Amino acid sequence: MASNRPEAPLRKLMGPGPLDIHPRVYQALTSPVIGHLDPAYLKILDKVGELLRPVFGTQNRVTNAAPGTGTSGMEACVANLLEPGDKVLVCVHGYFGDRIRQMVERQEAQATLIESEWGRPTDPQRIEEALKKDAYKVITLVHAETSTGVLQPMDAIARLAKAHGAMILLDTVTSLGGIEVKADEWGIDAAYSCSQKCIGCPPGLAPVTFSDRAIRAAGKRKHPIRSWYLDIGLLDKYWGSERVYHHTSSSSLNYALLEALRLIEEEGLSNRYARHLKNHRALVAGVEAMGLKMLVAPEYRLPTLNTVRIPEGVDDVQVRSYLLEKFNLEIGGGLGTLKGKIWRVGLMGYSSSAENVLFFMSALSRALALQGCKTDLAAGSDAAMSALDA
Ligand SMILES: Cc1ncc(COP(=O)(O)O)c(C=O)c1O
Repeated sequence: MASNRPEAPLRKLMGPGPLDIHPRVYQALTSPVIGHLDPAYLKILDKVGELLRPVFGTQNRVTNAAPGTGTSGMEACVANLLEPGDKVLVCVHGYFGDRIRQMVERQEAQATLIESEWGRPTDPQRIEEALKKDAYKVITLVHAETSTGVLQPMDAIARLAKAHGAMILLDTVTSLGGIEVKADEWGIDAAYSCSQKCIGCPPGLAPVTFSDRAIRAAGKRKHPIRSWYLDIGLLDKYWGSERVYHHTSSSSLNYALLEALRLIEEEGLSNRYARHLKNHRALVAGVEAMGLKMLVAPEYRLPTLNTVRIPEGVDDVQVRSYLLEKFNLEIGGGLGTLKGKIWRVGLMGYSSSAENVLFFMSALSRALALQGCKTDLAAGSDAAMSALDA
């Protein structure tokens, strides 16, 4: 009898996320569900926190995975750090910086915007000028802006924040596990990420880390934290020594996250960052030799998310539909003002591989040829191979 159950296709995931998942992580997902207060499960949560710390570059005690996707991590950081009337410097150079702005405004904090062109990072000089004019409790930044493919340099901003006593709230959704994050060295007070990108898990968990200063500040607020679910004090009572029931933590997702973190530990962080960088360089060398152009200047390019300009006259949706239907290959389209102008090609976690670079280039070359846009695939493959051999 014909089944009417919808099929789940097996895709090659090279968009902004989720990305391909290692078989060991899939296997971990199928471990038996256990209770969220079972002593064996609490050990799993402790281990998740322990393995997340080096990936965040922190010793912060309050480090674990909050329930929900990256947006939940964003909400946790914003809601815990800010209360009505707080002055915040919000740096926006893409879609996700703007999502932070919206959340800051919902907390009725007083946002001062530093807006920059999409495709460039925030210039530290503008932050310095703002900090000289006024005192801010928090500066919000996106380390890896997935909408544009821009990496935000952090060192100068970290020095400025320290000198002016401002806290930093950092989005590491597209960097954590693929690009080095140095939360302690940069003096980050709250950072969040997601499980489904460079970490290499299914979506559903949001790794977060809070500094002692942030925890103390949350404890001294005038107004209660406006999110019960994401109140870090309450989460800490579950993750920490008190073990008070807070929510029914997903053992399946945490098993998967733990396995993904074990894979990261086995690979070694510096090897992992080097792999992401090498595959990114190969992809850029390849697409440029094919005759295509990148959106972002070389010094600000994200190794994890590559933004390729769509050639004049080429239909974005037709290309992406063809790749999906013909090759089961998912890449991302542009967001906001970059819609129809760029493709977003993710090389993150298990998806950051030499074979994915080469597969993407040849599939794209064919999709473009069908629209009358000729590229030099032989030159592209040669350039990518040379970069992979370097
Ligand atoms: C930089 C950045 N921040 C936040 C988010 C939101 O994460 P999620 O879609 O997992 O809620 C994303 C999602 O892609 C992102 O790229």
